[in-house]
Amino acid sequence: MAMVCLSDFEAYAKKYLPKIAWDFFAAGADDCSTRDENILAYKRIHFRPRMLRDVSMMDIRTKLLGTEISFPVGIAPTGFHQLAWPDGEKSTARAAKAMNICYIASTYSTCTLEEISAAAPGGLRWFQLYIHRNRAVSQHLVQQAEALGFQGLVLTADLPYTGKRRDDVRNGFRLPPHMKLKNLEGAFEVCKMSLLDPSVTWNDIYWLRSLTHLPIIIKGILTKEDAELAVRHGVQGIIVSNHGGRQLDGGPATIDALVEVVEAVQGRVEVYVDGGIRKGSDVLKALALGAKCVFIGRPALWGLAYKGEEGLQEVLRILQDEFRLSMALAG
Ligand code: FNR
Repeated sequence: MAMVCLSDFEAYAKKYLPKIAWDFFAAGADDCSTRDENILAYKRIHFRPRMLRDVSMMDIRTKLLGTEISFPVGIAPTGFHQLAWPDGEKSTARAAKAMNICYIASTYSTCTLEEISAAAPGGLRWFQLYIHRNRAVSQHLVQQAEALGFQGLVLTADLPYTGKRRDDVRNGFRLPPHMKLKNLEGAFEVCKMSLLDPSVTWNDIYWLRSLTHLPIIIKGILTKEDAELAVRHGVQGIIVSNHGGRQLDGGPATIDALVEVVEAVQGRVEVYVDGGIRKGSDVLKALALGAKCVFIGRPALWGLAYKGEEGLQEVLRILQDEFRLSMALAG
């Protein structure tokens, strides 16, 4: 089967992954309107292309908080990569390094942070944190990530509780017994209720600041009000995100929310966006509307499901080629 675009990988993953894993990756909250809107919103945005501008030479590199990447796409944090491929997050780390892009490793990884680091030494990685009730666990993870050479701390702000994903409820989704949340082993015994701390507020940014020298990037911002609060609390970056439509259903598409966030921030911190990026032209639209870089969630999982790190590299290469072509055709 020739893999030509990201939907080809989606079709493959849907066909070959166990249903329970496919459903978990695909899930949106409630009736999935926000998940689907993330994609539809890109289709409503149109270019005003310019002609005869000598596009024979193009440079698609950019910088993320000062570090150069090969093109403005990174891998959003998603949990449980071993559900897609046996080597899990180790494969993700290798693919990201091979493509010279940023990989945000999730708290809910099925490999340890050490394993992820060792799999691709020197790759650009950020660590995504969910703050847990047991603050010592979160503190340890942040400090471990910094010691291992992760270069950014991404605080996910949109998950005080997990959204209601109907298929996961129907399937009774849980990790197979041979897979573990490797970075949280032990934490469950300490804390027998939900691990997540729903009492987190903006003041906790100061707590994080006291734990680490890493730049803090806040993920899950959708309004100008919260963008302003994020800047005032001293973060270095904002990821406009609705968690791929898996949390609050009925919120805006992220590409629509991006515009008000960029306007509020006025260049004071870097702004990124994720959700619904499926084509190189989507990347160009997000950049044209003020994002410094975009991140992909599900398409990375489809690439892993296809052929591990090779499959993920193929996804990224296709997106890179499409992005370069869109830039040229848009002048
Ligand atoms: C996620 N997302 C997510 N976000 C996060 O901060 N920590 C996490 O552990 C996860 N886990 C996760 C699992 C799965 C299966 C999905 C699909 C998503 C959200 C993710 O980072 C990102 O915001 C969305 O996936 C972006 O939307 P697309 O690219 O999937 O449309």
